[in-house]
Amino acid sequence: MALPSPLAGRSAVLQAARNHPFARLRAHGQNLIGYAGERSVVWTAENGGVSSVCAVGDPDEILAICAGADLIRGAAVLELPHVDIDILAPLFRIEKHDHWSVLWTREPSPHHDADDRVVLLPESEYAAIDSLLDIAFPATRNRPGQGPIRRWFGIHEDGQLVAVGADRSRNGVGYLVAIAVLPSRQSRGHGAALTRRMTRELLGEFDICALGVTAANTRARLLYHRLGFTEGIDLTSVRLR
Ligand SMILES: CC(C)(COP(=O)(O)OP(=O)(O)OC[C@H]1O[C@@H](n2cnc3c(N)ncnc32)[C@H](O)[C@@H]1OP(=O)(O)O)[C@@H](O)C(=O)NCCC(=O)NCCS
Repeated sequence: MALPSPLAGRSAVLQAARNHPFARLRAHGQNLIGYAGERSVVWTAENGGVSSVCAVGDPDEILAICAGADLIRGAAVLELPHVDIDILAPLFRIEKHDHWSVLWTREPSPHHDADDRVVLLPESEYAAIDSLLDIAFPATRNRPGQGPIRRWFGIHEDGQLVAVGADRSRNGVGYLVAIAVLPSRQSRGHGAALTRRMTRELLGEFDICALGVTAANTRARLLYHRLGFTEGIDLTSVRLR
């Protein structure tokens, strides 16, 4: 295919991607350059010294654009619409991959009394948040004191922190991370109350509220779907060697 002419900067990429929420979230950083095909938009940028290639649209066309523009050389991370890893494996030196989704909603779900148990957590609770995440969600890299996180929310039971979630909104998109409930306190509605309350808060500030969830996390996916996160994009992330 003939290589499309480059798009320079975030607004050109967003326009080509018709403001796709994933592009709104991820098209940022230094040296941002995009390419718009007929059925996809691909962009590359650097964030904190890490070079990434992201895209929305048709995976076949995305891979053709990547090859034509030699985008992968020098990239450390790819975030592409869902692709079978057997297709990528012969093309790239893959260190690690994940299948996951960004889901979003534009409408808050109705208020429940349980939502009033959700409070903003002060810095004095950061150690307790960390301990809870070590137990309930050890895989998350979203931790207290991290720059991009704006604030932490939580629920207490008998003075103990039992559920947490964080607001890592950026680039004009509300974004929830690190939603976790102590295993012994799950199935009591805490996950739902936190998600509803934080979503309502962020939709007061942004036109959209999104979150990321792995393909395998069926329980969380069902919960989010029930709370209105019915739109989204399925993704494959790859860390390259
Ligand atoms: C996903 C997670 C946050 C859900 O938290 P939770 O507090 O158990 O969620 P809820 O109780 O609100 O809802 C979950 C279930 O409890 C049920 N439930 C809700 N309120 C209830 C109540 N008052 N009494 C009994 N059950 C209830 C729901 O029907 C739901 O059942 P289902 O999942 O079979 O449909 C929790 O499982 C968790 O911490 N997982 C590990 C970390 C993780 O994966 N986080 C998500 C990252 S994206």
